[in-house]
Amino acid sequence: MFYSVPWRRYEGIYETPSTMSPLSIVVLISGRGSNLQSLIQAQQQGALNSALKAVISNRPEAAGLQYASAQQIDTVVVEPARFEGREAYDQALIEAIDPYQPQLVVLAGFMRILTPTFVHHYAGRLVNIHPSLLPRFKGLHTHQRALDAGVEVHGASVHYVTEELDGGPVFLQVEIPVFREDHADTLAERLLQQEHRLYPAAIQLIAEGRIQWVDDNLQFDHTPLDQPLLLDAPH
Ligand code: GRF
Repeated sequence: MFYSVPWRRYEGIYETPSTMSPLSIVVLISGRGSNLQSLIQAQQQGALNSALKAVISNRPEAAGLQYASAQQIDTVVVEPARFEGREAYDQALIEAIDPYQPQLVVLAGFMRILTPTFVHHYAGRLVNIHPSLLPRFKGLHTHQRALDAGVEVHGASVHYVTEELDGGPVFLQVEIPVFREDHADTLAERLLQQEHRLYPAAIQLIAEGRIQWVDDNLQFDHTPLDQPLLLDAPH
């Protein structure tokens, strides 16, 4: 299914139904945080009807934390070294997130495998962005693996998170062509530009109530969604 993002189609004039209150979100990062930046910018420009409550990282040096602080957004670091084992760590993470009462927890380059306890705690309100056209190339090194497989089209996906790594239901994707001269870095760089359109658009669909995942059913405008939506190509 082909999906045009209204704020692109209408050249920046974006209409959020005035009755809708902003979707409260907490973003989890581990590093650079360029997707986090795209969310903050979309929120500031009115393209994303969200209220970003906090940015949480497992790494104190994550560059995205500085960016968030500069925007007066709460930042929290939960360092794995302070906890014994994944269960204890994820429990601490839950205790860091829950006071913000987010309607959605957004993984944006958060480089940890989450425990089932964590995933169940946020069932239906936990999303991730992955740099491949899922279900192809789950896990790491997606760009090189796409090149090795000789695909002509690469892309990124936004999905709800389940216990299966990169295996939850995908609802929005973006595609880019693979060029003959591409290597992993050029592909990653070109795709990242599109991720920065994809993630705000995906979360806006949730903020508008157009995408819902209820009782293991993915719905778009209250109709079952069997195939991920595809973000329109850049103009
Ligand atoms: C992105 O490529 C995202 O798809 C993946 O991790 C990377 C995070 O980059 N999950 P950044 O920290 O948002 O710049």
